[in-house]
Amino acid sequence: MRHLLNPLDFSVEEIDQLLNLATDIEHNPKKYAHVCDGKKIATLFYEPSTRTRLSFEAAMLNLGGSVLGFSSASSSSAAKGESVADTIRMVSCYADICAMRHPKEGAPLVASMHSSIPVINAGDGGHQHPSQTLTDLMTIHSLLGRLSGMTVGLCGDLKFGRTVHSLISALVRYPDVKFVLISPPELRIPEYIREDVLRANNIEFKEVGNLDEAMPELDILYMTRVQKERFFNEDDYIRLKDCYILNKEKMKLAKEKMFVLHPLPRVNEISVEVDDDPRAAYFRQVQYGVYVRMALIMTLLEVEKPC
Ligand code: CP
Repeated sequence: MRHLLNPLDFSVEEIDQLLNLATDIEHNPKKYAHVCDGKKIATLFYEPSTRTRLSFEAAMLNLGGSVLGFSSASSSSAAKGESVADTIRMVSCYADICAMRHPKEGAPLVASMHSSIPVINAGDGGHQHPSQTLTDLMTIHSLLGRLSGMTVGLCGDLKFGRTVHSLISALVRYPDVKFVLISPPELRIPEYIREDVLRANNIEFKEVGNLDEAMPELDILYMTRVQKERFFNEDDYIRLKDCYILNKEKMKLAKEKMFVLHPLPRVNEISVEVDDDPRAAYFRQVQYGVYVRMALIMTLLEVEKPC
């Protein structure tokens, strides 16, 4: 039995296979409409979500399966003090696979140690969000036709943004990927990503504060929201929340073939006037999230690909 807790739980070859499967699902959805008949996914969300929870549920429904779960800790027995370990023991009796989001880093790992069904980390605190990364990889591959030979700018809250940590960890395994890390000093990338992921793999990267100066060299711009829920001090959040706002003027500085991604939700960091720009890919990214999660569920449940 396998879990997905970290993007590195899959090899590059396995990610290639998963993205190929997701692409086949995109083009032939009817072929997959019953491959999970009789299977159930439990979505255990201790933190708010729109995309991740609903896309896992849509994915399982599209495969012919069904869904159960909770969308907040307050509507589960966590509110009475039940531990993650006990909860997953129960859920293992009800479902075939589960996706868990939790504010505590490592909670899905703890769940996996007590589970008899595959556990997918659907976001743990400011740590990792591997199914978002699979979505991001599919989006980049479909836009550029490759996952190598590119300069990726990551902008905003690089400290608490778990999608950023997972995406960097995944992309360093592809050749000739460079990073421009754009953030205010307070929201720089964590030390373990800088040292253990980037420097340890001899990856070319720079940390800058100015988005305008970075724009012309980027092939992908990955914008992120300042993660209000991770701040201890509201004044700090208010001071930093609008540190970058991508607008039409800034888009003029970018390559004609640069694409803008965002895991969403956005607040102010991308002006709505950018949405009509053909390089704005964040809503297409959401659709890829369903195909990727269908492929992920099939892979972890070891469901045969139909002919
Ligand atoms: N991208 C993402 O994780 O969105 P949600 O918080 O809505 O699930």
